[in-house]
Amino acid sequence: MTAASQGGGPNGTVLTVETVPGYIASRPALAGLVAADGMSVTEVGDGNLNLVFICRGSDRRSLVLKQALPYVRLVGPSWPMTEERAAREAAAITAHSAVSSHVCRLIDFDPERHVLALEDLSDHTVLRTYLNTGGDHTGVAERLGGYVADVAFGTSFLALGEEQFRLRAAESINTELCALTEDVVFTEPFLGAERNSVRPDVQPQVDTLQQDAAWLDAALAMKLRFLTVQEALLHGDLHSGSVFVRRGHPAGPGPTTGGEADSTLSVKTFDSEFACYGPIGRTCWPPGCVLWCSTTSIAGDRCCGRLPQAGHPSRRGSGSCGRTAHRPGSTPMPSCGPGRIRSGWTPPASPAARRPAG
Ligand SMILES: Nc1ncnc2c1ncn2[C@@H]1O[C@H](COP(=O)(O)OP(=O)(O)OP(=O)(O)O)[C@@H](O)[C@H]1O
Ligand SMILES: [Mg+2]
Repeated sequence: MTAASQGGGPNGTVLTVETVPGYIASRPALAGLVAADGMSVTEVGDGNLNLVFICRGSDRRSLVLKQALPYVRLVGPSWPMTEERAAREAAAITAHSAVSSHVCRLIDFDPERHVLALEDLSDHTVLRTYLNTGGDHTGVAERLGGYVADVAFGTSFLALGEEQFRLRAAESINTELCALTEDVVFTEPFLGAERNSVRPDVQPQVDTLQQDAAWLDAALAMKLRFLTVQEALLHGDLHSGSVFVRRGHPAGPGPTTGGEADSTLSVKTFDSEFACYGPIGRTCWPPGCVLWCSTTSIAGDRCCGRLPQAGHPSRRGSGSCGRTAHRPGSTPMPSCGPGRIRSGWTPPASPAARRPAG
């Protein structure tokens, strides 16, 4: 579905493939980067929340525009969602880029139309796809670990000082998107919810877990930590669908292997609109989410008999954040976390419907 066919949003402010060249020409920070004449614009359809356009000039220079609408793109105006998420993403990219090179670069931000202009990473592959197709992930976990460590320290009071830290934490309040995380990640998998989708063959295990008091206590402890501890500016939705990977420079001799020593390996995080100040930690966010995605993927592969056993020749590397191999044609694993919003997953009827009774 295209932006134009969805309608909605304030008149004239929703970008379309037709209006993007004019928009770029009207932005001083962008006009010189990609020539409007002969520009090709493609709308990318694999995100849930926002409009994303890849814009290529006839001189092969390119950039990406990402626009937040006042609703969820995939669903339409019936699911309102604040456009301020674009400002949260722009601020998080700026803060994270200041301390790490593993971040998709922000070129421009338009707060009136909620549009981010980003470097074009079309020569990269989304890590989830890369893993699902058996890509060599050597060195990826190390770079992601470096990103998490740099962000955890660089946005903490240790690096910023107390006053700056408090100001930054206050500026990063992201109530509406955090509420989604609180519901989808920390509440509904554990307490159950009408909109959960559970395969019938694992329903008995789900029922057992949802009646396990110790398990529920642990979940509530994680939620409490997420809500009450502010240590660093978290990405907020860090999983294999929000990381780009490229091995081998496009202009170079081609893919190489070698992990840490591979200077042609590029790892870039993106899509940080769920960013907020929160807890760093082994058991919580964000490393916990990356591990959760990976372990649920690995568990899924094991259940379906897709993962080779330890010692199998096709098993590569160890201690990585992703799957080690994947049979062609097997079903890609879904994402977790806020990225779990999918077609068929219906929103609450109204914000009030989400409030606890009483
Ligand atoms: N800088 C970029 N360069 C190239 N492609 C990009 C870039 N940013 C995003 N994309 C493409 O657009 C897709 C959607 O981007 P993104 O995840 O940021 O959008 P979203 O609407 O916020 O998605 P989500 O529902 O996961 O939050 C990505 O999966 C990727 O294919
Ligand atoms: Mg997003």
